[in-house]
Amino acid sequence: MGVEDRQRWDRKYDRARPAGTLQADSWLVDSLRDTPPGRSLELACGLGGNSVWLATLGWQVDAVDISARGLAVAAELASRHNVTPRLIAADLDHFVPLPGAYDLVIVFRFLDRNHLPGLITRALAPGGLLVYETFGPGQCERDDNHLKNPAFVLAPGELPELFPELETIRYEETALPDRSVGRFVGRQRATITGHAGSPGGETNSGSSLPGSGE
Ligand SMILES: C[S@@+](CC[C@H](N)C(=O)[O-])C[C@H]1O[C@@H](n2cnc3c(N)ncnc32)[C@H](O)[C@@H]1O
Repeated sequence: MGVEDRQRWDRKYDRARPAGTLQADSWLVDSLRDTPPGRSLELACGLGGNSVWLATLGWQVDAVDISARGLAVAAELASRHNVTPRLIAADLDHFVPLPGAYDLVIVFRFLDRNHLPGLITRALAPGGLLVYETFGPGQCERDDNHLKNPAFVLAPGELPELFPELETIRYEETALPDRSVGRFVGRQRATITGHAGSPGGETNSGSSLPGSGE
């Protein structure tokens, strides 16, 4: 991953505009019904819909993506909703959060088996939640499948297996109208040593926090 990924996603987002309606993913909305706001981290946030939605609920939000173009759209969306998530331009291959810094980590439509399990387990505070949904079993067989690389599709039962340290709260594999997904909610159970704080990264939100991400 790296420069090529960034260029590819910048091109994909070239004509993207902020969503007219703020609509978070339903798995996220359902999973947080009884969870009070705290410190959250979105990985591969794209155009920022979920992060901005979290911020409007009072969550403190750090949102990471490799695409500066995507983050620029996210910044515009945030501005329209009068919230200030911290938008961090970083490659998740190299992004290292401070240990236990987040009460919530979310990931949607992104899969990196090598880096995400360690990164997420490190980032979550004791009792913190991971809400994760991405393409799952059945996706490649769909008539409307657009994924060219089957490596980006979860195997049956894979998400809980990627996070053995977390307690599984919910897991399902299901066919949505536009995609087939695996989706998971897990809770950090271990006591984490270290202290909460701000992770490294280049900010794109006018935040004064220093960056050192990639
Ligand atoms: C399919 S999009 C999903 C975006 C968003 N989570 C959503 O559900 O709409 C995948 C995202 O991953 C980001 N991405 C790809 N490789 C990355 C990397 N190495 N580090 C950080 N972000 C990356 C892309 O820029 C893109 O925004």
